[in-house]
Amino acid sequence: MGSDSVAIVQGANTPTRSNDTEYPFRQNSDFWYLTGFEHPGATAVFRTTGEAPAYTLFVQPRDKAAQTWTGYRPGVEGATADYGADAAHGCEELLEKLPELLGGASRIYHSLGRRADTDQRLCEIQEDLRLRSRQGVQPASELLDPRTILHEMRLTKCNAELDIMRRAADISREAHFETARMMAPGRYEYELEATLGYVFRRRGGAGPAYGSIVAGGASAAVLHYVSNDRPLVDGELVLIDAGVELEGYASDVTRTYPVNGHFEGVRGAIYDTVLTAQRAALLAVRPGATLPAIHDLTVRHLVEGMLELGLMQGEADELIEKEAYKRYYMHGTSHWLGLDVHDVGSYMDGEKPRDLAPGMVLTVEPGIYVRADDEEAPEALRGIGVRIEDDVVVTADGCENLTRAIPKDPADVEAWMRDEGA
Ligand code: GLY
Ligand code: MN
Ligand code: MN
Repeated sequence: MGSDSVAIVQGANTPTRSNDTEYPFRQNSDFWYLTGFEHPGATAVFRTTGEAPAYTLFVQPRDKAAQTWTGYRPGVEGATADYGADAAHGCEELLEKLPELLGGASRIYHSLGRRADTDQRLCEIQEDLRLRSRQGVQPASELLDPRTILHEMRLTKCNAELDIMRRAADISREAHFETARMMAPGRYEYELEATLGYVFRRRGGAGPAYGSIVAGGASAAVLHYVSNDRPLVDGELVLIDAGVELEGYASDVTRTYPVNGHFEGVRGAIYDTVLTAQRAALLAVRPGATLPAIHDLTVRHLVEGMLELGLMQGEADELIEKEAYKRYYMHGTSHWLGLDVHDVGSYMDGEKPRDLAPGMVLTVEPGIYVRADDEEAPEALRGIGVRIEDDVVVTADGCENLTRAIPKDPADVEAWMRDEGA
């Protein structure tokens, strides 16, 4: 932050779901990262002005009636005793206490646009200081977004974070296993979704890190299919993109399973193409590599595979140049992963794609998607979607695949589905 600075970081509230019921609370990722405080309506103020308190929390106060209805609140007492704040106040005091905490700091870090009352108060305080400048006070000369710093911090995971992400990967493994072994023609997608959610919670996770996708047959070509309401069909594939959220951290795993337990025919061939591309991409993850380079390599493998499959015709170079492959592979190969499933942190280093460095966590998730109504595709290949997605952390000389224990070799997947080895 630099010296003589104050940062205001605000937590999440609980949005209404319908009438007077609320969505389950989920803390703002930045706020969680800094404070570990898991209750709604809180604000943290950090100061490097040299004056105490350096760290102030504003939290919902303890309130017997509210606690009877909605449960424990750490309150002002808990904020200092259990969360390490130097000082704490009720959240209703934030606007009143802000002038004192901002003091004459020359730099303020605050994310505009999240809470109108705080934004407006900040403007009032600065304007008031400007009007009183003849008395020797001055408004801050810089207003910066704390996310610039925070998101760089969040991009590189420390060991404690990686331990959570490894445990999350193991829970996702168990959820995929329980789901794979119950798979059969006639089962509904939502039955598999329920099993995923059951294991996530049974193992202490918050639930799915994002809406679980269970997409049988042609639905797998719909990238964000979440209705999960159709029966599985013998001879088709089912794409399952599901991972747990554990202690705030997401895992993000896709496997594509044969509904009847056997990879066969064109579906097996498309699967092999995606797996070859995914393995090549994983081998390319190391310090100094870039996401666009890994994506290009993945595209090259996919295009060569698509030519062999007869999905496209022509020269690989030209199909790549003209981006013709986007008809069947329309998303990126990787994204950052962490507290958010599409995690924060810049993808660029100035004008250039940034180099991967140890501690960064990313997904590797190529796929091929042929829509059922795609009249350019050979009929036999229509209505098929395959994606294979792992989560990896960049290490000193390569990467550690956090989700490697979830099988993806066809023979291993088939064995898993026969219930051989969890
Ligand atoms: N599950 C979302 C994604 O793979 O990016
Ligand atoms: Mn995914
Ligand atoms: Mn992903």
